[in-house]
Amino acid sequence: MTSRYTGIIETYRSRLPLAPEARAISLGEGRTPLIRLENLPRAEGVDADIYVKFEGANPTGSFKDRGMTVAVTQAVHAGSRAIICASTGNTSAAAAAYAARAGIKAFVLIPEGKIAMGKLAQAVVHGATVVQIRGNFDDGMRLVKEVARTAPVAIVNSINPYRLQGQKTAAFEIVEALGRAPDFHCLPVGNAGNITAHWIGYSESAGTGTAACAFCGGACAQLPPAPVAGRPRMVGYQASGAAPFLRGGPVKEPETVATAIRIGDPQSWEQAWTVQRESGGWFDELGDEEILAMQARLAAAEGVFCEPASATSLAGAVRDLKRGRIPAGSTVVCTLTGNGLKDPDAVLRGGLRDLIQVDAERAAVERALLARL
Ligand code: F0G
Repeated sequence: MTSRYTGIIETYRSRLPLAPEARAISLGEGRTPLIRLENLPRAEGVDADIYVKFEGANPTGSFKDRGMTVAVTQAVHAGSRAIICASTGNTSAAAAAYAARAGIKAFVLIPEGKIAMGKLAQAVVHGATVVQIRGNFDDGMRLVKEVARTAPVAIVNSINPYRLQGQKTAAFEIVEALGRAPDFHCLPVGNAGNITAHWIGYSESAGTGTAACAFCGGACAQLPPAPVAGRPRMVGYQASGAAPFLRGGPVKEPETVATAIRIGDPQSWEQAWTVQRESGGWFDELGDEEILAMQARLAAAEGVFCEPASATSLAGAVRDLKRGRIPAGSTVVCTLTGNGLKDPDAVLRGGLRDLIQVDAERAAVERALLARL
C-alpha cells in the first residue's frame, strides 16, 4: 500500500459536488499544518489554545488552491478551454498554476502596481495572460463578469460555487485534527468567500447545513462518517482601509498594506452576514500597523511566515482575547491564508537595518557574534 497524498478531491470526493468521472486536476493541495502556538500567547499574555492553519503551505502558497482544484476540475469536465479571474494576486497565481496543470488557458485581471511581486511572478511563470487594469480589484471583478457573459471563459473567482466547495475542506481538516470544531475560527476577510466556505465545511461536519451554501442552501448537508458536535463562532477581520463589513456597505477606494484584502465591494456580502448571524460571530477591523506588527511577531516567536493579510486573523484574535470578547481558555483557530514569501517587500520595506556587514575575516565575524550573544 502506498501513502502518497493526492489532494483534497481524492480525499473528500464523496463530499464534493463533482461528477464521479471528472478527472481531478490536482497539485496535492490541502492537508496543511495546524500549528499550536507555543510562545506567542505567553508573550502576549493571553490564555487560550491558539492554532494557526498554515494555508501558505499549499502548492501555490495560499488557500486558493483548495478552491481552484475543484473549480478547474469542474470547468474542464464541463468542456471549458479557458478560465478567467480578477485577483489581488493569490487567485491569479492559483488559477495560472491549475490551468497549466490542466492544459487550458488562464486570463487574470490584476490591479496595476497593487499586487505582491511573488504573486505576479507566479502568474507569469505559469503562462497566464496577465491583464493589468488601471483600477482596483472591484473594477476587475465587474469586468470579469461582463466579459464572461459573451467570451467562452469560465469564471474561477469565488462567485463560482465550486471554489467554496473546495475551500470548505479546510474546516474538515481542522475538525479531524482537533476531534471537534474549535470554539472560535478567525479569518481575514476580503471578498468573504473563505469565511463562507469554512462555515459550509463546519456545518456539514456538524450535519446541520447552512443557508450560505449555494448548493444545498442548508438543506442537503452530507453527513461525515462520524457526527461531530458543534460549530465555531466565525470571526472576520478586515483592514481598516478596506472594511466594508464595518462600514455597512461598499468602500469606494479601499487601501491597505495587506494588498490581498484590498477589496471594497465583497462578492459574498450576503453569505458572510448569514455566517455571522448563524454562528454568533462578528466582524472587526485592524490598522495596517497592527497587521504588520503581528506578522513580524508571529514570524519571530513561532517560525511561521505568513503574508500581511493573513496576520489580520491572528492580530484580531489576540486583541479580542485581551479584551475578553473571546473568553480565556477558548480553543481558537486562525487561518493564515498565504505564505509570507510571496511578499518579501512587505517586511523589507522598513529597511535592512538589522543586517550587519563585516569584512570576510574570522575575527570580524566572531566580534559580531560575541557582541550579540
Ligand atoms: N488572505 C489572502 C492571502 C488572500 O489572498 C485573500 C483573498 C484573503 C485573505 C481573503 O479571502 O476574499 O475569501 O475573503 N484574495 C483574493 C485574490 C481576493 O484575488 O487572491 P476572501
